[in-house]
Parts: sequence; C-alpha cells; structure tokens
Amino acid sequence: MGALEAVMRKRLTLHLQEGLAITKDMRISALKKSTIAIAAVLVAGGLSYALWPTTSQTAASDSDISMEYGVLANVLMPETLSQNAQIGQLAFEVKCAACHGVNAAGKDRIAPPLIHIIYEPNHHGDEAFQRAAAEGVRGHHWPFGNMPPVEGVTRGDVAMIIAYIRELQRANGIN
Ligand code: HEC
Repeated sequence: MGALEAVMRKRLTLHLQEGLAITKDMRISALKKSTIAIAAVLVAGGLSYALWPTTSQTAASDSDISMEYGVLANVLMPETLSQNAQIGQLAFEVKCAACHGVNAAGKDRIAPPLIHIIYEPNHHGDEAFQRAAAEGVRGHHWPFGNMPPVEGVTRGDVAMIIAYIRELQRANGIN
C-alpha cells in the first residue's frame, strides 16, 4: 500500500502543479486568477479523489483473487475444508497442480480449471476423475492436448482429491 499511496500523492501533486501552471498562463485579473486557482485545486482534488478508490479497488481485487497471468478460473476458497479434502489438497498439489494450477484454477495452454461447470458431478462424476488419473484423458474439451496417466496415485488418493475438488466446486456454486 505504501507504493500505491506514494504514486497517488505524486499524482495529486502533479494535478495541483498542472492546475496552477494553467492558471499562471492565463493573463487575467488577480481576482479571476485566484478564483480559477481555487477551482483548479478543487478539480485536481476531485480527480484524485475519483481516481483513488478505483485504483486501490483494482489492486485489492487483483490480490484477493490472485489472478496471475495464465490462471483460467477465479476460484473462491471455502472457509473450511473437511479432513479428507485437506488430504486431497496435499495430494492435488503434488500430483495435479503442476498442470491444473493451484486450487485447480487451470493454467493457460497447459490444463483446464477443474473448478468449472464442465466438471460438475452430473457431467464428470467421481469415476471420470478416477479414470483420468489411472488412464489419462484424450483431449476433447480444451485445446491443451492429452492428459497422461498420473503415476503414483492410488484410488484412495484420488478419492481424497475428488473430495477436495467437490468442496471447491460447491464453494463456487458448482453442484
Ligand atoms: C501433465 C498435465 C496434467 C496433469 C499432471 C494432470 N492433468 Fe488432468 N488434464 C490435463 C489436461 C490437458 C486435461 C484436458 C483434456 C481435455 O481437453 O478435455 C485434463 C483433464 C482432466 C479431467 C477431465 C477428464 C474428462 O473426462 O474430461 C480430470 C477429471 C482431470 N484432468 C483430473 C486430474 C487429476 C485428479 C490430476 C492429478 C491426479 C490431474 N488431472 C493431473 C492435464 C493434466
């Protein structure tokens, strides 16, 4: 926030200087001059005020959702995860996140977000996840190519991963 504040201060100062410079250039009576100077200051202040919230809002929402370049979904985290989902989260981070991204938010040009309506339980049931891990997936929904089988995960591991994904899906309105 320190850097942002510094930038906004600078911007405000520039506005003020600009306003005063414009006023100076005008060869008009002293009275009019001061009136305009006050108006310029008000306009400059108003502009900075108007710009301030927008700028800090953008910065705040950027960091809230941490939409880094290449992340494909805006995933809201549930407040709590069940114990199974916590285990699933660890397994997911080790075995799946390299492609599907942190919190299964996807990675551009690599793998889709699993927190996505396409992967709702009715369309991709738990068995689709088990099959994907065991046998891989021939690319069909996305232009990212095939998913290879994932080595070193048991059906039990994948069940935990599914618990994790479903809890994230529910937290994002995907049921
Ligand atoms: C090497 C990259 C990679 C890894 C690692 C990976 N995936 Fe995938 N996965 C993909 C890609 C690419 C697709 C998209 C295929 C398509 O276009 O439909 C996909 C699709 C899927 C699908 C959709 C299956 C379907 O029937 O359409 C599921 C479920 C899935 N992955 C789960 C997982 C899980 C769980 C893990 C970890 C155990 C994992 N993936 C690891 C790349 C990967």
